Amino acid sequence: MTTWMLTGGAGYIGAHVLRALQASGREVVVLDDLSTGVAAKVPDGVPLLRANVGDRMTVGAALRDFDVTGVVHLAAKKAVGESVEQPEFYYRENVDGMLSLLEAMADAGTSALVYSSSAAVYGNPSEEFVSENAPLIPESPYGQTKVIGEWMTRNSAVNRDLSWTALRYFNVAGAASPELGDTSVFNLIPMVFRALAEDRRPQVFGDDYPTPDGSCIRDYIHVADLADAHVAAAAACVSGPGSARPTTSVGGRECPSSKS
Ligand SMILES: NC(=O)c1ccc[n+]([C@@H]2O[C@H](COP(=O)([O-])OP(=O)(O)OC[C@H]3O[C@@H](n4cnc5c(N)ncnc54)[C@H](O)[C@@H]3O)[C@@H](O)[C@H]2O)c1
Repeated sequence: MTTWMLTGGAGYIGAHVLRALQASGREVVVLDDLSTGVAAKVPDGVPLLRANVGDRMTVGAALRDFDVTGVVHLAAKKAVGESVEQPEFYYRENVDGMLSLLEAMADAGTSALVYSSSAAVYGNPSEEFVSENAPLIPESPYGQTKVIGEWMTRNSAVNRDLSWTALRYFNVAGAASPELGDTSVFNLIPMVFRALAEDRRPQVFGDDYPTPDGSCIRDYIHVADLADAHVAAAAACVSGPGSARPTTSVGGRECPSSKS
């Protein structure tokens, strides 16, 4: 049985990835600073290290102590608008965090990484169906941090034994069970349900998209499917010498508006 470190495992997507990794027969150790995550989403018996991913000493010690095979890295800040208001914060959390993780992994000899990227790397693509060969033109500091994370990982993998995959998620929705639902302040589905619960009309932004009523069309991937994609990616990263290092878009068509 192998052990995987899951950064951001107390978050919305992370809690689902955690359970999918467990269901696949892997052990999991969670590293999360609980800045937006909830400790209760980490099941009893799963070690939860409360630390920032930029804490290289703690990450490195955990990689060694738990004899970690690979890392699924989800820990990041993800609000587009906030990243415009506080770009430095996003570069520190997402870019410094990624750099520190790569260094800790190199030190510990951990050679597999599944990186949570985002469809925000594409910016506002001109084609309806976005392929992973589409140009990377992020429109926010958040999207830029995800592109930089991919660059850093790609460059790091040139000189050492690192098998990696970056998953560029489109919009994520759903829950495997009610207690795992998305509570993010800025995500569309929770915002809509919050408005309905407060007897308010959900606000729809944008009225000049090329759609019948001018509102935006967004495609969503179910979070449980996304979690399974992480397990497949983790398996691909350790499937032997020369294992594939694809960058994969997960989801579908992307609305040219805010993405997380
Ligand atoms: N939700 C989406 O629609 C979506 C779409 C594309 C990409 N993503 C990416 O997926 C990942 C997870 O997103 P989510 O929706 O589950 O968000 P989330 O906020 O629920 O989860 C993020 C988790 O990471 C932790 N965290 C944040 N920064 C950290 C740091 N520096 N060190 C340690 N822990 C830290 C938080 O406490 C939280 O538990 C993020 O990398 C995000 O950019 C999400």
